[in-house]
Amino acid sequence: MSESVSVDQRPPSGRSPVIEASNVSKHFGGVFAVDDVSLSVSPGEIHGVVGENGAGKSTLMRVLAGILKPDRGTVVVDGRHLEGGDPRDALDAGLALVHQELSLVPEMTVAENILLGSTPTQAGFIKTGDLKEIAAEALKEINVSVDLDEPVARLSVALRQFVEIARAVARKPRVLILDEPTATLTPAETDYLLDMLERLARSGLAIIYISHRIPEIFSICTQVTVLRDGKHVDTVNIAEIRPDELVAKMVGRELQQEEYSPHDDRPPGDIVLRARGIRAPGVDDVDLEVRAGQIVGLGGLVGAGRTELVRAIIGADLRSAGEVSITTAGRTVRVTGYRSAVTNGLAYVPEERRVDGLALTMTVADNVALPNRGSVSQAGVLSVRKITELARRLADVVGLRPPEVQREAGDFSGGNQQKVVLAKWLGREPDVIVLDEPTRGVDVGAKAEIHRLIRELADGGTAVLVVSSDLPELLHLADVIHVMRDGHIVGTLPAAVADEKSVMSLASGEAGDLIGV
Ligand SMILES: Nc1ncnc2c1ncn2[C@@H]1O[C@H](COP(=O)(O)OP(=O)(O)OP(=O)(O)O)[C@@H](O)[C@H]1O
Ligand SMILES: [Mg+2]
Repeated sequence: MSESVSVDQRPPSGRSPVIEASNVSKHFGGVFAVDDVSLSVSPGEIHGVVGENGAGKSTLMRVLAGILKPDRGTVVVDGRHLEGGDPRDALDAGLALVHQELSLVPEMTVAENILLGSTPTQAGFIKTGDLKEIAAEALKEINVSVDLDEPVARLSVALRQFVEIARAVARKPRVLILDEPTATLTPAETDYLLDMLERLARSGLAIIYISHRIPEIFSICTQVTVLRDGKHVDTVNIAEIRPDELVAKMVGRELQQEEYSPHDDRPPGDIVLRARGIRAPGVDDVDLEVRAGQIVGLGGLVGAGRTELVRAIIGADLRSAGEVSITTAGRTVRVTGYRSAVTNGLAYVPEERRVDGLALTMTVADNVALPNRGSVSQAGVLSVRKITELARRLADVVGLRPPEVQREAGDFSGGNQQKVVLAKWLGREPDVIVLDEPTRGVDVGAKAEIHRLIRELADGGTAVLVVSSDLPELLHLADVIHVMRDGHIVGTLPAAVADEKSVMSLASGEAGDLIGV
């Protein structure tokens, strides 16, 4: 190839790519997770990668980072050909990956986590004395201050995410890959992160950025690559595409923007869930009730106490004070613990699906059967046929991809794992459902499906309590929003008057210190 041709092919930034992946394929059993995908990114470029759950984004990134060896294809960084399947080699070449799931060791300190796995380096062994200095420098580079000696377990989810990023930055990468870094962040924290990435890009870093949040892609990316079913659909200049066109490329069809009017004149039903004087660590004297057919939203910043509150209400964590009751069909029962809550018609979809939502080594069918033993038994014996039937039906409802209920849950993509957790609990047709971040990590198409499902549950008379950091989601779903701050409900907004501004100003109070650092 003559030189003039290669110059013409340079991306708009005018700089030649620092990373070039060509014709990469990777399969798992019969699933072609990544199928002949090429991608190149130049220094200073933020390259978005989008696609539905299971499209192959994380798999492609794990190939780039040397965690997976591709079946076919090449990865070249700065002219250096990577062998593949060797994380050390990829790291030495300048690739750093911030994983989709948090990967820090909770018992270890911030400094230890930042340096984890990076000693020795190409330059030789790092002295222990230098460790803290390097960690401090990495945190400084991303402008986050946190105590280096603090065990990670004590940090907020948001701070953990920033420590993950510091860990990647400490490796002085040429290419930084972030796999859905904002899934656990609030809008203010997200803005902070996006600014940080733009700054890093300006200093010459090449960034590959995965997100289901389309506005983020439009806010920071210059190019975007769309994957669908493992295949490369297109790579486009962000300036030359509209958000709806991008989404259409992702899902392979036009997505109907649902236009229901959620907060209609339906009279609220009777109170089903009643919580009085709830106290627990991080929760200070909260009253709350949810009526049949009503969707109550809990808004607030990460750390405001929303998850703690719902866990205390349902008895998943101990409460130090307070009364909770569930009333159905004219009968009121006191909820003394999680077991009694579930027996009395409550379903709970937790925030940390990988920790307490899912048995990763069990099949989807068996996961779904767990809370639904009653309906999948025949004469007291579990029926494999019924389990499979129920699992297939629910997999269809949540849009599981691939729709194979006999696969292990751990083999599904992040968003699909979330759908399995939802499916588990939907099978019970609960009287009360508590959902904590129900669509975290879920793609736009599936998100619309899940919203519809939640609405249908409410229309069918279920009392719904939703925690969400996704403000548009909360505003879209909830009939009424309670905003929490510092363990209290600081304000209650009916849907008719709630908007992003009113929720955020209640959530943050006067202080502008949203990031908590
Ligand atoms: N370890 C594995 N074993 C078997 N199949 C896998 C494994 N990892 C991924 N897959 C499959 O590969 C496909 C692509 O998954 P991947 O995690 O790359 O998707 P993704 O685009 O990152 O999705 P999400 O948005 O949900 O994170 C999916 O069908 C998934 O089930
Ligand atoms: Mg993924």
